[in-house]
Amino acid sequence: MSTAPAGPAFDALPERVKAISPSRIIEIAGKAHGRTDVIHLWAGESDLPTPQFIVEAAMQALRDGHTGYQLSQGVPALRAAIARYYSRAYDASIGADRISVTVGGMQALAQALLAVCDPGDEVVVPVPVWPNIVEAARIAGAAPVEVPMAFDLQRGWHLDLQRYFDAVTPRTRVLFVNSPGNPTGATLSDDELDQILAFARERGLWIISDEVYGRMVYDGSPFAPSFVTRIEPEDRVMITNTFSKNWSMTGWRCGWVVAPPSLGQVWDNLLQYGTTGATTFVQYAAITAIDQGDALIEESARVLAARRDLIHGALAQLPNVRTAAPAGAFYLFFSVEGLTDSRRFALELLEAQKVALAPGVAFTDAGEGWMRLCYGVSEASLAAAAERLQAYIGRWRPA
Ligand SMILES: Cc1ncc(COP(=O)(O)O)c(C=O)c1O
Repeated sequence: MSTAPAGPAFDALPERVKAISPSRIIEIAGKAHGRTDVIHLWAGESDLPTPQFIVEAAMQALRDGHTGYQLSQGVPALRAAIARYYSRAYDASIGADRISVTVGGMQALAQALLAVCDPGDEVVVPVPVWPNIVEAARIAGAAPVEVPMAFDLQRGWHLDLQRYFDAVTPRTRVLFVNSPGNPTGATLSDDELDQILAFARERGLWIISDEVYGRMVYDGSPFAPSFVTRIEPEDRVMITNTFSKNWSMTGWRCGWVVAPPSLGQVWDNLLQYGTTGATTFVQYAAITAIDQGDALIEESARVLAARRDLIHGALAQLPNVRTAAPAGAFYLFFSVEGLTDSRRFALELLEAQKVALAPGVAFTDAGEGWMRLCYGVSEASLAAAAERLQAYIGRWRPA
């Protein structure tokens, strides 16, 4: 963990800004960065480069001169392509007027939170969760309220809906949902989404649904249960998504939000004064990605299912490991008996075995004692990592 820099300029920062926590995923990244002797499983990305047809489309967009400003809501043809995608893949009718393009899934979340939260509003967040959501809520002036999920070997990680609803107070503004979830892979059922939507409607709450792993599911369904198939345009629901994961475009920084159409000008204002829009030629490449990427998405889900089984099979057989095959996303989240300092474990594992994992504590305190492994890498890397982890964890005992 980096210590706060001392100095008069730092001291002059507002408390709200000084209180932002550094990501504890990034700490491991910093230590592993650039090391070719390390198997990198700490990041939330596949080791495949962006498919060539998308790269070509970006180069063509550059050659065609798509290098200027665009409307802050996004290139109209991309918004239309995303609407077509929802119709084709989800059989959902989401008009292009409800879709705006963002600088990746992160900015989609940050803007959604900024749009709906007043200072002091509470955002109910099931944990363990990707830490960026918690900090983005704080940056928006809101107070994250963490609701621990439960784990058992049969069901894996799951959310007790009653507990989630019980966390709502008069100050609650947002129910946050991330399904399939990072880091747990927990995936809510259709019935659970229905219950959440009914509850939010009754209480007048917003839902921010982060669906970036929506196409990474392993039960044979083409997509995880989604709010896109159940919302009315004026429901207080924002759905955030990204090209990063399903289209292997993490570095392109392109995502989107589905928001109620009546937010119109206000939503555009936030985009205009926040980023003035995502990179123009990237958006042109994203049109090709979403129009022509269905086969890629289907193939990735198949490949990821095999990798999930490989790594889950290798670790679940260790007597001191607890884990369940995740229903979605591309992470195996596992605990090791007696492990109470996942950060230290991650650092020691990196040095001893040259495998970089993210410590569970990076995903809020509810993740302490657990480790996150991204299995979106080649089968050869994963098999090598499995061997090293089996050797290390099999022998590992608490100090
Ligand atoms: C749950 C979740 N939401 C959003 C994102 C952000 O995606 P992007 O890289 O497009 O900003 C991530 C990235 O890891 C994520 O895990």
